[in-house]
Amino acid sequence: MSTHKEVKRITTHILQKMKDDGEKISMITAYDYSMARIFDDAGMDILLVGDSASNVMAGHETTLPITLDQMIYHAASVVRGIKRSFVTVDLPFGSYQGNSKEALLSAIRIMKETSAHGVKIEGGEEILESVKRIISAGVPVMGHLGLTPQSINKFGTYAVRATDEAEAQKLLNDARLLQEAGCFGIVLEKIPALLAKQVAETVRIPIIGIGAGKYVDGQVLVMHDMLGINKDFKPRFLRKYLNLYEEIYNASQAYIRDVKTKDFPNDNEQY
Ligand code: KIV
Repeated sequence: MSTHKEVKRITTHILQKMKDDGEKISMITAYDYSMARIFDDAGMDILLVGDSASNVMAGHETTLPITLDQMIYHAASVVRGIKRSFVTVDLPFGSYQGNSKEALLSAIRIMKETSAHGVKIEGGEEILESVKRIISAGVPVMGHLGLTPQSINKFGTYAVRATDEAEAQKLLNDARLLQEAGCFGIVLEKIPALLAKQVAETVRIPIIGIGAGKYVDGQVLVMHDMLGINKDFKPRFLRKYLNLYEEIYNASQAYIRDVKTKDFPNDNEQY
C-alpha cells in the first residue's frame, strides 16, 4: 500500500519521490483540528485547507465569499491537529489577483499565522508572476487547473473543462509553465482522464486529480463528499466511503428520543 508510511513528515521532496516511485498520493480537504487529527493518524499524505470551506463549512453557494482571515482560522486549526501530513492552504478569491505583491503578502500571512507548509492558487499563465514571487520567498506553491471554482462566474457552470482542443492545449501549456515556475504539484479538477494522463506524463511534478481519472499521481476529495455528509452531492467522479449524513441523522434521532423519554442520562451517567 503505502511505501512512505514510515516517513515522519511529508515534505515536497517526499511527494516528488512518491511520484518518481509510482506511489499514489492521498489528499483530502480538512478545515478543523479534530478531523485533521483523524486524517493525519490514518496516514493521509496531504491535507488541503480548501476554500471549499466557503461551501461546506459556511454554507455559501460558491467559494468566492471566504476571506483570508477565515482561511487562516481554518488552517491554523488544521495544523494544530497534524504530525505527519503536508498541509497546503488555498489562497482565497481576492487575496492574490490584484498583483504579485498582494499575492506574496497573502501567502506570507498564511505561512506566518498558521504554520502550514504551502499554498495553492487557481490559474495558469495569468497568475504566473505571483506564483514565481511566492516561491522566491521560499513558500511551496501548488497549482490548480481545469475547473477552477473561483472563476465560476466566468465559466457559468461546474461542467467538465478542457473538452475542446484549444482549452486542452492551454491547460497543458499552463501545467508546463507552473512546473517551470517551481510549483511542487498541481491539482487538476474535472477534466477528461486522457488529458490528465497527458499532463501527468508531460510534467515531472505530482499531479493530483479530482474528477480527472485514474492516470494521475494522486487523488483529492472534499472530506464532506468522501464521508457522505453532503447527501445530495453525487457527481460521477465521487466515491463515498461512508454515509455519514444518515449515521449522524440516526444518532441525532436516537439522542432526541432518549432525552425526551428521560432514558438519558441514566444512573450510571450522572455524578
Ligand atoms: O477547495 C477545495 O476543496 C479544492 C479541491 C476541490 C481541490 O480546491
